[in-house]
Amino acid sequence: MRVNVTVNGRSHQADDVWEGESLLYMLRERLGLPGSKNACEQGECGSCTVYLDGVPACACLVAAGQAEGRDVGTVEGLADGAQLDPVQEAFVETGAVQCGFCTPGLLVAAHDLLERDPRPSDTDVREALAGNLCRCTGYEKILDAVRLASDRRAERSQA
Ligand code: FES
Ligand code: FES
Repeated sequence: MRVNVTVNGRSHQADDVWEGESLLYMLRERLGLPGSKNACEQGECGSCTVYLDGVPACACLVAAGQAEGRDVGTVEGLADGAQLDPVQEAFVETGAVQCGFCTPGLLVAAHDLLERDPRPSDTDVREALAGNLCRCTGYEKILDAVRLASDRRAERSQA
């Protein structure tokens, strides 16, 4: 089957997609976008989180065919050219990236949270990121990163 999809603002066409193929597989293996990670392939870890029509979704649970005609946003689309998104900068600066396997999904989830709520409480952050598992950081640095990203976004919007 052929799937037409817009990813990070660009139109793509994927051919020979098999029935049951996941959006995650199509992104990584057919469209050359390996940023979204495959850790559990069961909707448990959040490492494959992408935007699907503006709403975060686990790409491993979405059939590639379901993305036909839809708009997908991946971690590769967060930066504006060479300018990293504040949430990406903050994760690097606070040491919230260790092995990095969870990071792309956390970045998309944190970006979504800050779009909806620019000044989330720690409880809000924990709730919003509850579906994203990290085995390395203990989550404190991730909380630090989201706080810093929130500050950076506020600074940029005032500049
Ligand atoms: S790889 Fe999709 S939720 Fe874990
Ligand atoms: S940094 Fe390794 S799983 Fe999160």
